[in-house]
Amino acid sequence: MKKIIVYYSMCGNTEYAAEKIAEATGADVLRIAPDKAYPDKGAKKFLWGGKSAVFGNRPKLLPYDFKAEEYDLIIFGTPVWASNITPPLRTFIFDNKDALRGKKIALFTCFSGGGADKASEKLKKLLEIQSCEAELVLVDPKDKPSEENEEKLKNFCESINGIN
Ligand SMILES: Cc1cc2nc3c(=O)[nH]c(=O)nc-3n(C[C@H](O)[C@H](O)[C@H](O)COP(=O)(O)O)c2cc1C
Repeated sequence: MKKIIVYYSMCGNTEYAAEKIAEATGADVLRIAPDKAYPDKGAKKFLWGGKSAVFGNRPKLLPYDFKAEEYDLIIFGTPVWASNITPPLRTFIFDNKDALRGKKIALFTCFSGGGADKASEKLKKLLEIQSCEAELVLVDPKDKPSEENEEKLKNFCESINGIN
């Protein structure tokens, strides 16, 4: 079972989770990024990103190397923005829609306390799937370390390692 984690992270929480998952599952890792970075400080951080998420924007991404045919399982990771997935991930899924069809899918989201369920549902809708192999929701795992996050991460990785 060859797997890859495809994620976007603005401030490092999703990156933290992606690295932990990669370590425990042996998955490859692809970090995507918009070619024009979102402001990551002050009021603009929430304004620009939030607006872009609400409007369902699909920003152009920096070049990346992704060979879908090499993978059986794709693990998507995203912060929650305005109860939605982040625009860079939306672009990635849109640009690779045909190649992603039929793949096994797992998801993880990082958030501060509201809207993760909605974001996961929107992600599944975008992928045109009803359910996925494994799902994980973490509360700011880098900025607010907790036993609960680590336990959930461990369980998620065990689920991933159990997929045939
Ligand atoms: C533009 C923007 C919108 C956000 N919207 C939400 C939200 O709707 N609900 C929530 O719980 N957290 C929200 N957050 C917080 C992030 O989802 C959370 O801090 C996440 O862990 C950040 O991941 P990162 O460090 O990988 O960027 C938002 C953050 C930003 C920058």
